Amino acid sequence: MAHALNANSGYSRSGSGREAGKDRRVRMASNVIITGGAGYIGAHVCVEALSAGARVLIVDNFANSSPKAIERIREIAGESDKVEMLEADLVDDATADILAERAGRFGADAAVHLAGLKAVGESVAEPARYYETNIRATLTLIKALDAVGARRIVFSSSATVYGEANQSPVNEDGRTAPTNPYGRTKLFIEEILRDLAASAAGWKICNLRYFNPVGAHASGRIGEDPKGVPNNLFPFIAQVAVGRRDSLSVFGDDYPTPDGTGVRDYIHVVDLARGHVAALDYLARDDAAAATDVNLGAGRGYSVLEAVAAFRRASNRAIPVSIAPRRAGDIAEIYADASRATDLLGWRAERTIDDMCADHWRWQCENPMGYAEE
Ligand code: UD1
Repeated sequence: MAHALNANSGYSRSGSGREAGKDRRVRMASNVIITGGAGYIGAHVCVEALSAGARVLIVDNFANSSPKAIERIREIAGESDKVEMLEADLVDDATADILAERAGRFGADAAVHLAGLKAVGESVAEPARYYETNIRATLTLIKALDAVGARRIVFSSSATVYGEANQSPVNEDGRTAPTNPYGRTKLFIEEILRDLAASAAGWKICNLRYFNPVGAHASGRIGEDPKGVPNNLFPFIAQVAVGRRDSLSVFGDDYPTPDGTGVRDYIHVVDLARGHVAALDYLARDDAAAATDVNLGAGRGYSVLEAVAAFRRASNRAIPVSIAPRRAGDIAEIYADASRATDLLGWRAERTIDDMCADHWRWQCENPMGYAEE
């Protein structure tokens, strides 16, 4: 399905326009370990960090990602000698020493930690596995970083830590009350990292609370590749649009929102990835706080029906929908107060919902089965 989509992609290998990112420099953190760097968000973080001048050491066990993503990161960045890879499972105790050795040779000075399990429903069914995997992986990383004296961590947290406890727009001082084990692993890891930062060892940490990442790199080469039936809205819409599924079930149209469907803060994954680069820059500053929590969101909400309408415009496909009952555990509305990210990190989301849909659609069309061979 090679649609004439490149015309409006705004992407160019030589790096013109806003995709270039060459004006950004990762100040001190020039050698960055990226755990989960082959995953959806991780791959985009790798590309933006490379574009900002960093070298990256990707640590991934490919449990929910593909080695193909590594090839494509190298292809987009065009600087394959700056991309190193360690295939390892952070849940294994032995990985701490292996990673420390590699990190030492690599000259690591910071880490972005994204590796972990992330399916809400699965976490309810298998909570022990979620706690063990997500928390153990974090502790292994901490040990390895400590061994080489690289004490800056940007952590992939989630707006899910807020649960249903707050009025939107929600800021970082909002009450944290996650409603499932997955969300609690995120909150507990944030707290482990805050304890590290409060110790005398010189750790600096930034917990990035993501809202709803969607879209893909403008090249169409990396994007979200969910296994099985997608849980999240955008991958599901995209698979309906491309003909892999018949119709979208809209989970509830009787919420107290303008059109009755759930409202979320969708953020383009490239904007999100650039937020990590801004956080790495921030942590390298002498005046950076030891521990900071930062929302990464666009700061406005869209309903399910608005998202579908935007995707119809981008794809020029029908996208049939039917109204279904509410999904257990869903809340009516959540969107970010993203002002701290601007004030502290000098970052704000730039891409629109139409950009998100166009880029998500390009990825879906050019890779209808994700990274799998057809
Ligand atoms: C979900 C996770 C959250 C995670 C986030 C990552 C749950 C309960 N929460 O959040 O922990 O951090 O993804 O992006 O899974 N919708 C439909 N039909 C669908 C799918 C979704 O109507 O087939 C609606 C949902 O009811 C919701 C909106 O679309 O109103 C967004 O859903 P989703 O993409 O799953 O994200 P969240 O529920 O916000």
